[in-house]
Amino acid sequence: MTSIISDKRLNVIPLSEPAIIGNEWKYIKECLDTGWVSSVGSYVNRFEKMVAEYVGCKYGIAVVNGTSALHLSLLVCDVKSGDEVIVPALTFVATANVVKYCGADPVFIDCDQETLCLDVKKLKRFLEMECIRKNDGYTYNKASDRRVKAVMAVHNFGHPVEMDNLIEICQQYNIDIIEDATESLGSEHKGQKTGSFGKLACLSFNGNKIITSGGGGMVVTNDGRLAEKVRHLSTQAKNDSIEYDHNEIGYNYRLTNIQAAMGVAQMEGLDTFVEIKRKNAFRYKKLFSNMNGIELLWEKPWVKSNFWFYTVTVSTVHKKALIDYLHSENIQVRPLWKPIHTLRMYKDCQAFRVESALNIYDTALNLPCSIGIKKEEIDFTVEKIKSFFSSRG
Ligand SMILES: Cc1ncc(COP(=O)(O)O)c(C=O)c1O
Repeated sequence: MTSIISDKRLNVIPLSEPAIIGNEWKYIKECLDTGWVSSVGSYVNRFEKMVAEYVGCKYGIAVVNGTSALHLSLLVCDVKSGDEVIVPALTFVATANVVKYCGADPVFIDCDQETLCLDVKKLKRFLEMECIRKNDGYTYNKASDRRVKAVMAVHNFGHPVEMDNLIEICQQYNIDIIEDATESLGSEHKGQKTGSFGKLACLSFNGNKIITSGGGGMVVTNDGRLAEKVRHLSTQAKNDSIEYDHNEIGYNYRLTNIQAAMGVAQMEGLDTFVEIKRKNAFRYKKLFSNMNGIELLWEKPWVKSNFWFYTVTVSTVHKKALIDYLHSENIQVRPLWKPIHTLRMYKDCQAFRVESALNIYDTALNLPCSIGIKKEEIDFTVEKIKSFFSSRG
């Protein structure tokens, strides 16, 4: 059989590789030519403005990665030792780790079987059954007597969380919402961009994200006071532009101008990237439409997903074998994250009735989704999945 895959990729269909097809070289060269390579420079300002405007927020603060964006967001919400933060059981580990960086503890809530995002109904049940609102107006976990301070709303694989219901519940229980929008730049919930709902929201520009700056992240918010605080903490909490006067423990979390230059070039392509991701999702959908044994998870009618990653489910007995088979055919796929409450570091934390996340972990995998993936590569991937199932009767 002749391979349809280019030599450049060493005959592999990658899971997700960046599309560097715009002004990246030009803008980065400009940084090198002018010497503006570090964490101050016009590209940093431009990148912050561009992303904040795109998302629909007043402020953007560029940082080294999505994890540092999440960490700073929790810090400015005053999350600290003795607090609890709601984290979906199904997410990348960074969402939970940052809670621990602050000395607080995550409480894990299940995901919705269809959107893979936080199950808002289950969160409501948890708050009604396991928590109490005290006279100070805050919500406390009855078992630990600790305050439930924030919810991490993770828009998994680009699909938005049910934000209207989440906002209503969080207002009722006086809990802050921090959006982990690291995977959902460009996605919309009822016409509004993800990243514009929470008290703060966090983005990632890691190499596999819909746009990349090599590595990078951003906090976006409409709250000027919080924005200033995030900026302050991200620059070692320096109080004075000349004197080395620091008023608290800060972090060196600022993005460099070189990375921001790449980010600006990528932002110029974002709308096209979202369009391509969606078009490719529809291609997968059409090809899978007559196939038994596999289901492509799809967006809900109230959202427009950026389809950052494509997720399919198969029966538990087939998942690992299918992954191994596709790898043997040089098609990169990956299992989903192990539900976080099952990881060694988190197994003593509270997890409220987590069922769907375990089931999804047992049955789901992500398919190749690069912006540059060719039609033939999508077809080839689906063809190989078909032959896997036909060989099994
Ligand atoms: C859901 C989620 N949260 C947080 C992060 C952390 O972002 P970064 O890798 O930029 O630190 C990522 C991505 O890697 C992610 O997918």
